[in-house]
Amino acid sequence: MTLRRLLSITLEDAACMYAPDKVVTHWDLATTDSLSEARKAMKAQFFPVGLLLIQTTQDKDLESLHSFLDGHQGSQWVGVFTPDLIQNPRCRAMIAQHLFDFHTWPIDPHRLNHTLGHAFGYADLVDQPHITLGSPREMDLVGQSPAIAHLRTQIRKVAKANAPVLIWGESGSGKELTALAIHQHSTRAKAPFIAVNCGAIPAGLIQSELFGYERGAFTGAAKEKKGLIEAAAKGTLFLDEVGDLPLELQANLLRFLQEGTINRVGASTPIQVDARVIAASHIHLQSAVVAGNFREDLLYRLNVLPLSVPALRERKEDLPLLSQHFFKLFEHDKNPRITGFSHRALQAIKSYDWPGNVRELINRIRRALVMAEGRLITPEDLGLNLSTPLRNGEALEEARIRAERDAINVCLQGSGSNVTRAARDLGVSRMTLYRLMEKHGINA
Ligand SMILES: Nc1ncnc2c1ncn2[C@@H]1O[C@H](COP(=O)(O)OP(=O)(O)O)[C@@H](O)[C@H]1O
Ligand SMILES: [Mg+2]
Repeated sequence: MTLRRLLSITLEDAACMYAPDKVVTHWDLATTDSLSEARKAMKAQFFPVGLLLIQTTQDKDLESLHSFLDGHQGSQWVGVFTPDLIQNPRCRAMIAQHLFDFHTWPIDPHRLNHTLGHAFGYADLVDQPHITLGSPREMDLVGQSPAIAHLRTQIRKVAKANAPVLIWGESGSGKELTALAIHQHSTRAKAPFIAVNCGAIPAGLIQSELFGYERGAFTGAAKEKKGLIEAAAKGTLFLDEVGDLPLELQANLLRFLQEGTINRVGASTPIQVDARVIAASHIHLQSAVVAGNFREDLLYRLNVLPLSVPALRERKEDLPLLSQHFFKLFEHDKNPRITGFSHRALQAIKSYDWPGNVRELINRIRRALVMAEGRLITPEDLGLNLSTPLRNGEALEEARIRAERDAINVCLQGSGSNVTRAARDLGVSRMTLYRLMEKHGINA
């Protein structure tokens, strides 16, 4: 049973309104009047419930509050705001994202105590690992590492702008999730988010898919059709693997970025479309420009707000949290006997390098949830039973490279040298696997 501990944070001049200890009853209460004090208090002990008393807040304070709450997602937060603060869109976004519930000044102590009681009941439930309250939302960027905290701050910054964003990151690292988070934090959040994988649409179809066509534009075009860019009107168009866009279409995309207009195939007049473009690539587009596969002017247009998503191996401290998150997310697939990860499995997860990033972690956990025979998931269930003790005099980096090579060899052997299957088992794209095989001098 969790203790009824409550941390109250009074910001700015909200103190003149009420003293928390006069309002809150039957709690083991700690009070602070700044976020830095609150951070210290939260470090010293866990508070299942937090109360935020805020009267007037400037945008920069809201920003610090946002990152504070990001870092303390394990507690349930209840906010008390002035009614006009609730009208502020940034404040509303914060409430939606982080708070269990909120009240407005002046406080009704009975109602506030009632809400706090509820928040506590919820915190207590969530604390019990065998109970799940719906499935956790797959959308959210999970992680508390400095790298993810930095990414969240950047997401919030670029969400306020309207210029194109270019996201770089390895396959499976979370580029699409990042793009979606930018959309959701922007003023376009209520309009559509249209994701297009430029590498997955056949070259012959991509122009009509993106730009649409007029009736009679080509044989079979019996009716006019809106393209995906128009479908993203007022919202966000996410162009994944933008480096795969054929050169002719790069010219059309450039025109859309410069003039905000598109031409449907077969149309003589351009159409105005207001869609924000977020593009992503796992290759550095500068090298594609040098190789003559990507227009330099388009790169400049897209690269107004560059973001990079760190590889999973650069934020290994997030692995336990992410593993737990996906364990819960895919719980419905699992054998009811399985209750969690063994210590050895968690060790193996931490010492593995995750070339396929978060996508590989998801794949391995999903497979383990189905295949595990015991109560706890083992390294073998995750396919991480490759023993890689440091050899005599071997540096960590060498062991890391050897582990990667071993993993690729084992998966290739297991798939009978079928690269597509091995890539799926490793949770990487075929292209990534080919790249890794070349790096290690492995032939399929
Ligand atoms: N930080 C994260 N927290 C939770 N899920 C994540 C995170 N990063 C990635 N994912 C999940 O991993 C998978 C791959 O992410 P995605 O954004 O498609 O990667 P990319 O576009 O870089 O290939 C998706 O299912 C996504 O929801
Ligand atoms: Mg992707």
